[in-house]
Formats: sequence, C-alpha cells, structure tokens
Amino acid sequence: MSHDEYLSFDSTELSEEAIPQPNLTTERLTLRPFWEADAEQVQSLLQCREIAANTISIEHPYPAGAARIWINTHQKKWQGSEAAIFAICENTNTHTPVGAIGLEINAKHENAELGYWIGESWWGRGYCTEAAQALVDFGFSTLGLKKIHAHFMAKNPASGRVLRKIGMEKEGHMKSHIKKWGIFEDVIFFGTVRS
Ligand SMILES: CC(C)(COP(=O)(O)OP(=O)(O)OC[C@H]1O[C@@H](n2cnc3c(N)ncnc32)[C@H](O)[C@@H]1OP(=O)(O)O)[C@@H](O)C(=O)NCCC(=O)NCCS
Repeated sequence: MSHDEYLSFDSTELSEEAIPQPNLTTERLTLRPFWEADAEQVQSLLQCREIAANTISIEHPYPAGAARIWINTHQKKWQGSEAAIFAICENTNTHTPVGAIGLEINAKHENAELGYWIGESWWGRGYCTEAAQALVDFGFSTLGLKKIHAHFMAKNPASGRVLRKIGMEKEGHMKSHIKKWGIFEDVIFFGTVRS
C-alpha cells in the first residue's frame, strides 16, 4: 500500500473503506491500536507521578475516565490522517500495554510529532527506543512523511537519549518555553528528515 493512500483520507468522510491502522512488530514488541478495554491499564500506568512530571500535558493525578476518553479519540484521528497512536505491548502479552507511542500528523506539511511514555516498571529495557525506531520507519516508509520531530523538557535527558539513539538530531533549545506545575521549563527540540 502506498503512502499516498494512507495520507489521502478525507477526515469528513469516515467510512468502512478507511484503511485500518496496522500492527507494527519488532523483535520484542507489538505496536497495535489501543482498544477501549485498555483503558484500565492506561489509567493505572498513568498514575505514576514521574510520567506526568516529564510530559507536557499528562496531569497528576491522572483523572478518572481520562484514559477511555483519550482512547476513543484515536480511530477518528487515524482515519482523518491526524494521528497514528499505538499501544506498546510485549510480544509475549499483546493484550496488556506497557506504554504508548504516537505520531501527531500535520498532513499539509507532511511532518509529524513523535510522543511516547513507558510504564515505570518497564523503563531501561530499550523498549521506547525499539518502539520509536519502528514508528519512525513506519512514518517515513508507509505514511510518506518528510520530517518527524519531537520535543522534551530539558530536565528529562532520558527522552533525549531515546531520540539520539534513533538517529534524531538536536534542532533547538527554547528557554522557559512551557510552564509545568508552576515552573518554567526549557524545552529541547529534535528532528529527523527523510533522506
Ligand atoms: C523517557 C522514557 C519514555 C524512556 O523509556 P525507556 O523504555 O526506559 O527508554 P530506553 O530504555 O529505550 O532508553 C532510555 C535511555 O535513556 C537513558 N537514561 C535514563 N535516564 C537517564 C538520565 N537521567 N540521563 C541520561 N540518560 C538517561 C538510558 O540509560 C537509556 O540510554 P542507553 O540505552 O544509552 O543506556 C521513559 O522513561 C518514560 O516514559 N518517562 C516518562 C514519560 C516521558 O518522559 N515521556 C517523554 C516525554 S517527551
């Protein structure tokens, strides 16, 4: 299937003809669309204060019901070529997500923003790097994107490490760019362009 077919969705015409979001498989992981049944697991993983502290928009405590609402936005966004959001699962248990990863797509500019989080119990195993590499490959080769970018708070070097490991380069450092929990934080921007 060509990337033109993927990016030619008309967001105003959701139909059964829309191309379903595929699963992506790596050596250890399966990236699949979230199911509504995942809401309880997402709700549980996102109670972690460290995840909220290091992401720009996740609240703490994570509000009751927020996971279900979030998951229910995914299909329409996929069909409208606005986003490709995946549950990260271990190949040994594809029913229980250990994290999330996604591309927020700007179809006009053929670019996308990469975002992710991994449940704290699974940190440090290389899972985020493995999932991010697979999603960037998908974004370039299947969605036909020209550029993929990401940003993170300067106080979160692990995220920068992930982006460097998948071949992204630093593009900028914005001082006091966002306010998180009452503190102005520097934000670092990374990107990679399809060659
Ligand atoms: C950032 C996050 C996604 C990384 O997930 P992960 O699966 O543990 O990542 P990986 O194991 O693939 O790689 C992490 C790398 O960061 C490194 N790292 C961890 N803590 C670090 C620190 N304080 N300083 C520098 N590097 C650090 C690890 O050593 C590893 O690099 P290495 O393979 O060269 O040793 C995870 O910690 C997380 O979900 N954090 C909270 C949410 C978040 O920050 N999301 C991103 C918002 S932009």
